[in-house]
Amino acid sequence: MIAAMGIKVQKAGRSKLQDISLENLPFGKYFTDHMLEADFENGEWKNAEIKPYQPMLLNPSVAAIHYGQAIFEGIKAYKNKEGDAFIFRPLDNFKRFNISAERMQMPGVPEEIFMDGMKQLIQLDKNWIPFKEDHSLYIRPFMFASDEVIGVRPSDNYKFMIILSPTGPYYSAPMRIYVEEKYVRAVPGGVGYAKAAGNYGAALYATAQAKKKGYDQVLWMDAFEHKYVQECGTMNVFFVIGNTAITPDLEQGTILDGVTRQSSITLLKEMGFAVEERPLSMDDIIDAYKAGLLYEVFGTGTAATISMIKELRYKDFVMQFDVEKWKTAPLLKKWLTDIREGRREDKYGWMYPV
Ligand code: COI
Repeated sequence: MIAAMGIKVQKAGRSKLQDISLENLPFGKYFTDHMLEADFENGEWKNAEIKPYQPMLLNPSVAAIHYGQAIFEGIKAYKNKEGDAFIFRPLDNFKRFNISAERMQMPGVPEEIFMDGMKQLIQLDKNWIPFKEDHSLYIRPFMFASDEVIGVRPSDNYKFMIILSPTGPYYSAPMRIYVEEKYVRAVPGGVGYAKAAGNYGAALYATAQAKKKGYDQVLWMDAFEHKYVQECGTMNVFFVIGNTAITPDLEQGTILDGVTRQSSITLLKEMGFAVEERPLSMDDIIDAYKAGLLYEVFGTGTAATISMIKELRYKDFVMQFDVEKWKTAPLLKKWLTDIREGRREDKYGWMYPV
């Protein structure tokens, strides 16, 4: 069957949903019945198709595996209590996807494939959207270079895909964070602002070292002075100091322009906080902590939503927080969840009906 916007649909026979429960799901382990696939060949996108979720047959020489021309996005879909499905701010992710594509010398994906394809795919797998606290349907669009040539050059062919994963919380408990001074995630002029697959692979070693020391994640610092805060694990990071919420700015292109980050800025302002996007040094953070003014530290991300940080270790200095007493991060999380699940007015037009 061919749907309106030219995306072919081939439906799965039996639904795998019969085999799993949508309660207490781990992050990203189960996938729905269908996936979307499209090919970039001879300078144009073609073969857009929704089909049963299945393994891919790849030639071992496929370029993405060798040189990492691969990007992705993370988006979430929710259900309200009437059972209607909504996607949270997908147009922002669509725009960011194509910004990542440009930086990685990949073709942009047209809106009809990315947005309409996503919508159609979710319509088909709507029953997979969990309705439970901290649960949602995680949407993973991605693109990779598919030339079967191992010369180092931009590929001529690409594959764009979307897969869906019913999912639970990413970081389930308040986190202990190691301030990383040796390894770096991003440099000005680099790819830190892009959602490039390699950014995540490159973070694993430092994260494993921090885990060996008993920490959950690292707080990335700037590459030159190891002084200014960038991101935390796979998240943007916020510091509530007095009545001001501070988060690193996007000027140098070293951090991701997070959709949850932007949403948090908007909601924190609505709560009455002054919000500053600016360079923030570890020295300033420590001074605020010593003065008793560093009230809360939390990460924001699509997968993580809002994750509280209960400990920050910088060199030998340990900052600990009694997260049970916090008001801001829990309220921010509640407002976001309430908007997503239809219990709070969507006054910014963030929820995109499926
Ligand atoms: C997201 O928040 O969607 C991310 O990109 C984190 C992910 C790598 C799990």
